[in-house]
Amino acid sequence: MGRGWGFLFGLLGAVWLLSLGHGEEQPPETAAQRCFCQVSGYLDDCTCDVETIDRFNNYRLFPRLQKLLESDYFRYYKVNLKRPCPFWNDISQCGRRDCAVKPCQSDEVPDGIKSASYKYSEEANNLIEECEQAERLGAVDESLSEETQKAVLQWTKHDDSSDNFCEADDIQSPEAEYVDLLLNPERYTGYKGPDAWKIWNVIYEENCFKYNTFYSWLEGLCVEKRAFYRLISGLHASINVHLSARYLLQETWLEKKWGHNITEFQQRFDGILTEGEGPRRLKNLYFLYLIELRALSKVLPFFERPDFQLFTGNKIQDEENKMLLLEILHEIKSFPLHFDENSFFAGDKKEAHKLKEDFRLHFRNISRIMDCVGCFKCRLWGKLQTQGLGTALKILFSEKLIANMPESGPSYEFHLTRQEIVSLFNAFGRISTSVKELENFRNLLQNIH
Ligand SMILES: *[C@@H]1O[C@H](CO)[C@@H](O)[C@H](O)[C@H]1NC(C)=O
Ligand SMILES: *[C@@H]1O[C@H](CO)[C@@H](O)[C@H](O)[C@H]1NC(C)=O
Repeated sequence: MGRGWGFLFGLLGAVWLLSLGHGEEQPPETAAQRCFCQVSGYLDDCTCDVETIDRFNNYRLFPRLQKLLESDYFRYYKVNLKRPCPFWNDISQCGRRDCAVKPCQSDEVPDGIKSASYKYSEEANNLIEECEQAERLGAVDESLSEETQKAVLQWTKHDDSSDNFCEADDIQSPEAEYVDLLLNPERYTGYKGPDAWKIWNVIYEENCFKYNTFYSWLEGLCVEKRAFYRLISGLHASINVHLSARYLLQETWLEKKWGHNITEFQQRFDGILTEGEGPRRLKNLYFLYLIELRALSKVLPFFERPDFQLFTGNKIQDEENKMLLLEILHEIKSFPLHFDENSFFAGDKKEAHKLKEDFRLHFRNISRIMDCVGCFKCRLWGKLQTQGLGTALKILFSEKLIANMPESGPSYEFHLTRQEIVSLFNAFGRISTSVKELENFRNLLQNIH
């Protein structure tokens, strides 16, 4: 166990327990305080306070990020929603219209994206492919039989996948389809109750974080699992913030009205209604935010390379988008109070390797569990956000590889596929939206009392 982890999370656990005890003695008064009591002032994970994060996110990052995510490169995500659930058979297929995902007609997706799902540009990609093969096999003889070439490709794919945090979603499968994320927003679907609970329970339990044993593992079982739990809890919280903020408030034959449902929000986050869990969930949301923010600040050199393109085939737009992307990443890098992950992601080489492997296995399981989500829209966003978080962790675990990346030419050691890039930014976009929505809920709750 890395000393950094043990120390950091030991401390964290202690602060956490103290704040719990405190919360029980003096229940805060107003509805707003009951949700937000633990997310104001200093967070225990870093030297920053929530107000600084809120200001930074809501006014500087969020608007630009939204603009970027509306671009063609980021709005199309290829996903296989038809993979069978590997864990159980009795998925109640969701017939609700709000759950349905509308895949793109193939002429809607820009050619550049279709023909280059892994590529930034055809040229760069050919080069990468060529060089990768050359690097692995020595120079590849062009006269290889087709069969061998196929095998080599598969082998390459296999090698690549060992570094993927999520089950490779087989985007080459004929069942994989592009979806337009803008047309399929994450919002309330009515998917809740036992089915949804089952999924979250499996996610928490399969990975040894039983709710009941919460306190025993806090006291010093597996340190990395605590961090893992907090990330998953943060993701869960974020998704619930969205569902509460885009609740189906009214449905007539003419139109549907989506908006904030304060009751729903309180049921999930109010300190009293959730017996203390809610505020902690929100705290975990900020933890997740800081982890993803940190990953984005670290991956800047990868995107800064002149070879890198956000390739869709529209040269002018692609260049503008790259500029916007870099502007966002520089802004993120300038955030003064970054989470210091050094002690736990880049510690002793052997331990760091084991930790990386542990996290990777957990993420594979979680992305497989996503195939059991009965509601397709939830499945889509669940898969995307798991892959995005997995990509963020891959970045944090690859800090040295990124630092040693050549400034031009293909990078063998560290690479992100288009799918990883799209999921990384969209997943962060979701968390960023959640932080922004918390401000809205805070205001709405203040008006109640
Ligand atoms: C992944 O899921 C399988 C099947 O449920 C389970 O046996 C295994 O322990 C899980 N692995 C991790 C790392 O959670
Ligand atoms: C808000 O959510 C609650 C459940 O949490 C539900 O009972 C209520 O009908 C919702 N309000 C509206 C206006 O839809």
